[in-house]
Parts: sequence; structure tokens; C-alpha cells
Amino acid sequence: MTQEAVEDDQTLIDLRDAGRHYEIGGGTLKALDQVDLTVRAGEFVVILGPSGSGKTTLLNLIGALDTPTEGTVRIGGQDLTEASRAELFALRRHRIGFIFQSFNLFPGLTALENVQFGGNVAGRSDVREAAIEVLGQVGLSDRADHFPHELSGGEQQRVAIARALVAGNPVVLADEPTGELDFHTGVQILELLREVTQTAGAAVLIVTHNRQIARVADRIVELSSGRIQSDRENEPADMADLHW
Ligand SMILES: Nc1ncnc2c1ncn2[C@@H]1O[C@H](COP(=O)(O)OP(=O)(O)OP(=O)(O)O)[C@@H](O)[C@H]1O
Ligand SMILES: [Mg+2]
Repeated sequence: MTQEAVEDDQTLIDLRDAGRHYEIGGGTLKALDQVDLTVRAGEFVVILGPSGSGKTTLLNLIGALDTPTEGTVRIGGQDLTEASRAELFALRRHRIGFIFQSFNLFPGLTALENVQFGGNVAGRSDVREAAIEVLGQVGLSDRADHFPHELSGGEQQRVAIARALVAGNPVVLADEPTGELDFHTGVQILELLREVTQTAGAAVLIVTHNRQIARVADRIVELSSGRIQSDRENEPADMADLHW
């Protein structure tokens, strides 16, 4: 599906005919193929698709953690396929907040230290205060001194979310951010992520296979077998009307 290329100074993410192909077992596996996607500041986008449809692959390309084998990926106007390693590093530090599907917390750091790490990388000066505040926003003030192995799966997920948000970067990428959370906590996290689009004007992309979660978005992009099947505006549902 081709989306009209309307790039302007609000455009944060722009993929053109982007693909990630793997040569494997004598054939080509197209984890992602012919993707055109433009996301502007302040958009709350859900990427919906079944397991194996290419959601994480797409997020990794946008987050500068992987490079496309086809087409282009641009973040804030910068073409990642032409960027140096130093430029990619700066981009990840100052433009991207990444919430990993598998959290990737540092086991030897406490919850607070994990969050502070996110602020340090982004070069924030008020790191400790900011980390305490964001940890409070994800409901974990009373777990600040716990190490990851002393936290439940859902608590670890919330630390990972706080670590990504503390940087205050304009692009927030969240891979199944509510996968480990009960309904009530999940809704709180979705509200927090929506707030980031409104107060900080960030573009937030959430990956999920859950259609209920997709209902909160301004826009729903559906992936299937590595391709965009549909890309449509959505009237966000009231969080109170969700069920999963
Ligand atoms: N390094 C790799 N080499 C070969 N194939 C890969 C590689 N990484 C991913 N794939 C394949 O690409 C496809 C898309 O994978 P991806 O991880 O993006 O799916 P996903 O939509 O995130 O799935 P899930 O919901 O299970 O997390 C899968 O079929 C996967 O097996
Ligand atoms: Mg995935």
C-alpha cells in the first residue's frame, strides 16, 4: 500500500519502500517488505499484526537498531542508510526511546538505577529527580531499590517503560508494552504513553497483536507477512471501554 509522501517539519519517521530481507536456506525471507510509512509528531500509532508479521523488525529499523536491506528509513529527516555509526549512536541517544519486548533491564542495577541509566544516556542533567518522577508515573515508587530479579514480570516491564520515557526523546517505540500487565495496569501505561504524545508532542508507536489495545490509537497500521495491509485513522476509544 502506498501512502502519499507528505513530508514536512512535523515528520519524525519516514520509510520508503523499506524492507528487511534475509537470505536463508537458499531462499529469501522477507521479514518486512515494501513498507511506506510516515509518522508525524504527536501521533499515537498502533502497529497491529500476528506473531511473525514483522512488527519487531519494523520497530528495530525505526529505532536504528537494524538497517533495511531495501529502501530508506529516515528519522527527523536523517537517512539511516547513509548515517555513520556515530550518527546512529547520537540518534538513538537523543531521538529514540525504545521499550523492548524482552525488557533488557540490567540485572545488577536497581529499578531506579535502570531508569537513571536511560536519562544518563540521553545526557539529562537532572537524572535522579527525573527517574524518581517517571518511576512514580509507572506506579513503582515503592520498588525503586529492588533489583530486576526482585520484581514481577509486569513490574520489570514498567521499569523498562520508565527507562525509555525518562530520556524525553521525540520518538517512543514500544514492543508489546502491556504484554505482561494486568488490565488495570495496562490501561494506566497506555494512558501514560498517550500523555507523552500530548504533553511532549512525541510520536509513540506501540506494537501489539491485541485488537483491544489498537482501539486507543489515533491511527492503526496493520501488518501481515511483512507488508502493510492497511493504514487508517482511528477515533480513539475511551480507555474505560477497553477489555482484554
Ligand atoms: N535474524 C533473522 N533471520 C531470519 N529470519 C528472521 C530474523 N529475524 C526475524 N526473522 C523472521 O522475520 C519474521 C518477522 O519477525 P518479527 O520478529 O518481526 O515478528 P513479530 O511480528 O515481532 O512477531 P511476535 O509477535 O512473535 O513478536 C519472522 O518470520 C521471523 O522468523
Ligand atoms: Mg515481536
